[in-house]
Amino acid sequence: MKINVLKNYKELSSTVADIVEEQITKHPLTKLGLPTGSTPFGMYDELVNKKLDWKSVITFNLDVYLMNITRPQSYQSYMRKNLFDRTNIYPDNSHFPFRPFSAFEDKIKGSKGIDLCILGIGSNGHIAFNEPGSSFKSRTRVVNLDEQTIIDNARFFDSLDDVPTQAITMGLGTIMESKKIVLIANGVKKKSILNQAMLGIITEDVPASILQNHKNVKIYYCD
Ligand code: F6R
Repeated sequence: MKINVLKNYKELSSTVADIVEEQITKHPLTKLGLPTGSTPFGMYDELVNKKLDWKSVITFNLDVYLMNITRPQSYQSYMRKNLFDRTNIYPDNSHFPFRPFSAFEDKIKGSKGIDLCILGIGSNGHIAFNEPGSSFKSRTRVVNLDEQTIIDNARFFDSLDDVPTQAITMGLGTIMESKKIVLIANGVKKKSILNQAMLGIITEDVPASILQNHKNVKIYYCD
């Protein structure tokens, strides 16, 4: 599987923003799968600056922490701040994983599936919050976050103890049904897990390795 190495974070962000732009421009009724975290900040900024028409776009976020959603660290707050409040997307068209999970999955299927899913990768190889050991067939569900994920994400919270220990995530099976997938990774800290996931053996111990089985996936990395 090819890992496209880009010059810097600016190029990473604009490359993936251009892919989203092309998708939305060609297919205004697009359904997007969207990540949070630090890697997509630049992509969201670039997308906002493009002033695209989001009125027919439907979004499905990959995951949410189990926490008070009004707090600034919630992924609902993150998406409002970084994308939704800065575009003309209809609030009713932006979805976060919800209970019952079968209804969330039906919502994706009912909209004819995700056309383009953007992913980040955790330092332990997770995609969305599918931690190592997650079944390749997994669907949307509650998960316990890995110790490594809690440590990695503590930078967004006041202290380690403040980081939620559980989340709701789309499953690997759910993500793999997306028609196109783009994974972005930024920083040397991600290099070895990215190589392992994309060039190593396909194993549930490295959840992102399942992407090697997808027919339309692009990987972008910068140091
Ligand atoms: C978050 C998500 C996670 C992140 C991953 C990388 O919605 O899906 O899988 O993409 O933890 O996070 P950053 O970009 O902060 O390194």
